[in-house]
Amino acid sequence: MPSTSSSAEISANVKQLLKVFDTEQEKLLQEFFDFLRFQSVSSEPEFAPEVLRCANWVKSFLEDAGMKVELWESEHHPVVFATWLGAGPDKPTLLIYNHYDVQPVDPLELWESPPFEPTLRGNEIYARGAEDNKGQCFYVMSAVRHLLKTNKSLPVNIKLCIEGEEETGSQGIGLFLDKKKEQLKADHLFIVDLGIHTPDSPALTLGVRGIVTMTVELIGSYGDLHSGTHGGVVYNPNRGMAELLATLHDSEGRVAIAGFYDDVFDVPAAELQKIDTSFNENEFRSMFGAKTTGGEKKFSAIESAWIRPTLEINGISGGYAGEGFKTVIPAKCLAKISCRLVPKQNPLKIIELVEKHLREHTPGGLDIVITQNHGSGAPALRTSSDTAGVRAAADVLTALFDIPCQYILSGGSIPIVPELAKAAGAEVVMMGFGLPDDNIHAPNEHFGIDRIKKGFATMAGIILTLGR
Ligand code: BES
Ligand code: MN
Repeated sequence: MPSTSSSAEISANVKQLLKVFDTEQEKLLQEFFDFLRFQSVSSEPEFAPEVLRCANWVKSFLEDAGMKVELWESEHHPVVFATWLGAGPDKPTLLIYNHYDVQPVDPLELWESPPFEPTLRGNEIYARGAEDNKGQCFYVMSAVRHLLKTNKSLPVNIKLCIEGEEETGSQGIGLFLDKKKEQLKADHLFIVDLGIHTPDSPALTLGVRGIVTMTVELIGSYGDLHSGTHGGVVYNPNRGMAELLATLHDSEGRVAIAGFYDDVFDVPAAELQKIDTSFNENEFRSMFGAKTTGGEKKFSAIESAWIRPTLEINGISGGYAGEGFKTVIPAKCLAKISCRLVPKQNPLKIIELVEKHLREHTPGGLDIVITQNHGSGAPALRTSSDTAGVRAAADVLTALFDIPCQYILSGGSIPIVPELAKAAGAEVVMMGFGLPDDNIHAPNEHFGIDRIKKGFATMAGIILTLGR
């Protein structure tokens, strides 16, 4: 527990910072909107020039803040690496991670306002990347700039690592982390790409799941065939895919791939006790219109999302599904599959098991081609709640919300975190102000001004707290 005097000091800092935000809000939002206008979609090659322009905008912002900035070229999109090391070697060093790339916008027709024309409705800003991760990146950069401009100095050393290909699995940055070890060296690594349960419940994330992804093609013929002439003769790849995908889960909701759960262990009760697992099924249902029947029957919804691995079919395409009708047997059918992993599961081993299963269950007469996406995936990560970084962040969040900070897990993945933490030699703190219904990766993504404000005060508050 923080001592009374220090928590009073933290509260005073946070209150002051909230006021600063109010005074600066108009200018800050204008800048944020500029950031959001870049179409920095990392997965589509035609956007590469826009991704680069966005990187340069981030670079200028941070140079103006008084940081030394480098663009680290990678195979695809550069990392923006910025430092301010004026506190000196006796003070802690914070490495803060964000990403400036965003997911594709499709289906475009479902957006109520254009994805790259940020639009304010109520107190929410609508745009692709508004939350994931430009909004969170923006309050980090603004907080650092504010402290540097007003105090001319910081009580800690700061390094910002803002990458441009998180949404494609961070393959570029992964390749040169080893070479950048010295520059990345830090005491604390803050990953500011996560969320909270509800707008009023402060939380830090103690774990993310790992991920592997693959594209599966079932190929039947050179080209599409007339379904009258050839129906009954060839094995329809769509039928083959439906049958194949149906073998992936059993009636208990478990993944039916041999060996899939071999390395999964029961989370120790002591560890689980720290985690806030409250989950309201009715609220969830009214928020998303969905029932919570997707997991293993033996586990609750929140357990299935946080402490159990899953396999999801993210996309299927094959044949004609447009307007009207086309009597065709498609040449091939394609499916996108991903697995979320929990600690101790090895991504490479899981890829092998899934591939083996898919090959063994492919109906005769069809060819199967499997390709990995997102490189060879990433393992899950858990962090301790007992580090100086987590304590500082929890103290600031507790002061800001005026209720105790909770610890949660996340079902999502941030592939680079384990490697980045290793390269930096730092303890990890995972935080952010995302909410479950921000529509990240979906049409009408949004982020609230109140949360940018809280993020700004939290980040600046953490820097001040760790520098005491
Ligand atoms: N910010 C998310 C991670 C996240 C998702 C945190 C949900 C908390 C809740 C991150 O940008 C992300 O989307 N990661 C991808 C990685 C994938 C593309 C390799 C994910 O989890 O799907
Ligand atoms: Mn994302």
